[in-house]
Amino acid sequence: MTTVTLIPGDGIGPEITEAVKAIFEAAQVPITWEEENAGQTTFDAMGELIPASLIASLERNCIALKGPITTPVGKGFKSVNVQLRQKFDLYSNVRPAKTTAGVKTRFENVDLVLFRENTEGLYAGLELWDERLGIADSIARVTVDGCYKIVRAAFQYAQKHNRKKVTVAHKANILKQAGRLILEAAAQVSKEFPEVVWEDKIIDNMCMQLVSKPEQFDVVVTTNLFGDILSDLCAGLVGGLGVVSGANIGDDMAIFEAVHGSAPDIAGQGLANPTALLRSALMMLEHMGLHDKAKLIENALEKTLQDKDCCTRDLGGKASTSEFAQHIISNL
Ligand code: NAI
Repeated sequence: MTTVTLIPGDGIGPEITEAVKAIFEAAQVPITWEEENAGQTTFDAMGELIPASLIASLERNCIALKGPITTPVGKGFKSVNVQLRQKFDLYSNVRPAKTTAGVKTRFENVDLVLFRENTEGLYAGLELWDERLGIADSIARVTVDGCYKIVRAAFQYAQKHNRKKVTVAHKANILKQAGRLILEAAAQVSKEFPEVVWEDKIIDNMCMQLVSKPEQFDVVVTTNLFGDILSDLCAGLVGGLGVVSGANIGDDMAIFEAVHGSAPDIAGQGLANPTALLRSALMMLEHMGLHDKAKLIENALEKTLQDKDCCTRDLGGKASTSEFAQHIISNL
């Protein structure tokens, strides 16, 4: 049995977490959950956004599944997600986007994996505000080390999963400094992976290509802000944030997470779709080498998604979160 830290999160987090727990129990997945929360819920209850007991649990287990966490816009606390990524150097944000039978989309054959640098760039936290001059600066700090690490992670993934091509998305034509490093890193790292073809695309063209011919992409790697935007764009290509998985991976720790938010508009009503969190949990099983269990649950999920009556409202069905989970369990 492996112990995994479970962070239910805010809003719909607890409901979708319960669904995943029930499915894992039914599939006899050999893991034990260690539940520790973070975010608005712990802030309201104990005045702490990221309790010390959560940090201790993460340090002990080095693997976690996380629900969505509310972040106030503009003022208030710094994003818990960003803090965890930076504290544990979870530099790879990995976001697969694959079309699924049963989930209606404009495209039929999208199958790509996006690697977003997760700790630096415009999210480095280097922000200045000069009240007198009325000037705001947000500095994109990109490092050679950071670029090599994310590019290497993308090429290693391509090699391991028999994928043929890595595309580097950038804006080096305008950002002569912060934009060029990832390209230089790709030129060097690609030499270690001669069987993987690579190309670069300027970010604006990349967006246009993605929304018109997404099937041409295989593995994509980019810096933090571009990756943040592209990853949701790619989610939109395959059915939206409710059905895609995500992971934050470093050298010593991995946190798998639902990529959507805490959905306060539907929280507590049994309307939430647990697919995104479930798929992230399946990525976690793959990461742990539990391939058979991951496949078993993925097959049951795919079968369930093909029957609209079994699905939640966002997918055109009428089932509640727990009914949807029960249908997956019946299909195991
Ligand atoms: P959101 O993703 O929570 O909701 C956007 C829309 O999608 C809403 O209509 C919601 O009902 C729907 N939706 C989201 N997940 C769903 C699911 N699993 N099933 C069915 N419908 C779903 O985005 P929003 O409203 O911009 O953010 C709400 C809060 O979540 C904010 O505080 C934001 O900062 C936070 N957030 C947290 C993230 C995380 O923890 N990874 C990611 C994105 C936002």
